[in-house]
Amino acid sequence: MSNPASPPGVGLLDEGPAALTFPPGFLWGAATAAYQIEGAVAEDGRTPSIWDTFSHTPGRTVAGHTGDVACDHYHRMPADVRLMADLGLKSYRFSVSWSRVQPDGAGPANQRGLDFYRRLVDELRAYDIEPWLTLYHWDLPQPLEDAGGWPARDTAGRFADYAQLVADALGDRVNHFTTLNEPWCSAFLGYGSGVHAPGRTNGTDALRAGHHLMLGHGLAVRAVRASRPGAQLGVTVNLYPVTPATDSPADADAARRIDGLMNRFFLDPILRGSYPTDLRADLRGVTDFGHVRDGDLAIISTPLDQVGVNYYTRHVVSAGTGPAEPGPSPWPGSEDVRFVSRGIPVTDMDWEVDAPGLLETLQRVHREYTDLPIYVTENGAAFVDEVVDGRVDDTDRLAYFDAHLRAAHAAIDSGVPLKGYFAWSLLDNFEWAWGYTKRFGMVRVDYDDQARIPKSSARWYAEVIRRNGLAAQ
Ligand code: FCB
Repeated sequence: MSNPASPPGVGLLDEGPAALTFPPGFLWGAATAAYQIEGAVAEDGRTPSIWDTFSHTPGRTVAGHTGDVACDHYHRMPADVRLMADLGLKSYRFSVSWSRVQPDGAGPANQRGLDFYRRLVDELRAYDIEPWLTLYHWDLPQPLEDAGGWPARDTAGRFADYAQLVADALGDRVNHFTTLNEPWCSAFLGYGSGVHAPGRTNGTDALRAGHHLMLGHGLAVRAVRASRPGAQLGVTVNLYPVTPATDSPADADAARRIDGLMNRFFLDPILRGSYPTDLRADLRGVTDFGHVRDGDLAIISTPLDQVGVNYYTRHVVSAGTGPAEPGPSPWPGSEDVRFVSRGIPVTDMDWEVDAPGLLETLQRVHREYTDLPIYVTENGAAFVDEVVDGRVDDTDRLAYFDAHLRAAHAAIDSGVPLKGYFAWSLLDNFEWAWGYTKRFGMVRVDYDDQARIPKSSARWYAEVIRRNGLAAQ
């Protein structure tokens, strides 16, 4: 930023060198996703994805919001990259729209679609911002959903073909690839509770989807590695510590089950090459795992170069009798588990602010699963922002980032090989089923005229990056 001084009313910065310094080369970034920011949904050969269909279906998103225009990033990309450069970002995590670069999810590459990402990456490189490319952030081409979607095994192979096409086209200028973003959401919100696209509600299908997403991940890692042997490859999972509400054995068991479905369902196959035995037993009434073929787990556990963790909050659970909520559940076989609020401060998503949960999560991944470099590929908060005299003084979001970065620093101190942190999100954007009603951006977007206003948190983050650390508390 032109004026990196502490914004008035923030008070978390002091002068002088940072008291809590991050390791040299720590990768400071911000993240976005294609459907949430790009707009231009029918331009240059792009075809519909499941999120176009879903958001255009009445009743699926708040106020019928869609990503048709979103932040108009497709047309404003150079200015948005300049904004990133002003913030001093070292890296930018974005996702590629599958339907843009391989319309309908099959066949040859659409060069006009690829050109957009070539321009984006070149623009980033011109400012020395490391591009970090996510191949799949939830936007399956609609024809692949019509052919069965992720519950169908063939979708995994389609994903690997698409991954190869992107690696062939962009691998000369992109080093960091993430295959999937948060496969839990794709599988369990997309095919279980149905609150995300494609909006199907069948627990067995959700479990098949989860498996085929991971199979697609493993096949994609192999395809990208074959195309670009030097690339740094990983996956991003959304992890939550799961804590029992009381010390009763029933609550402990509820926590074990939810931890199984939320965290270990993905971590174990990807990083250990097996499904947890207790999870398989929990799911006996939902699936016989007949969709898992010989050799799948070897593909799914193809070695990686890095692990991405998205962290937002913790789950506190207790045992119940009978379904916890009316309607379809994202917790197949554990529909009775209750999610308990502790009455501590929450964000505008009603997610409890729990920074120690980030430390716990990072330590667990390192201790139980891997020595690989770990990156926080998303962390952030929605709050209601107010524009006063053209400024947004989002002290609550700023405090959220500050607390979580202190937890990230503590993780490094304790020996976790945490190599970078991406704030979610660079811009306010289309927050899926919540449409534009939830703002996660460090930069405000005025959806009437697409003006961008860096909030106090953005100016503060720029200073954290510049100092490679945080002030003493
Ligand atoms: C994550 C998603 C991201 C955004 C944040 C708030 O689950 O990956 O797209 O919606 O939550």
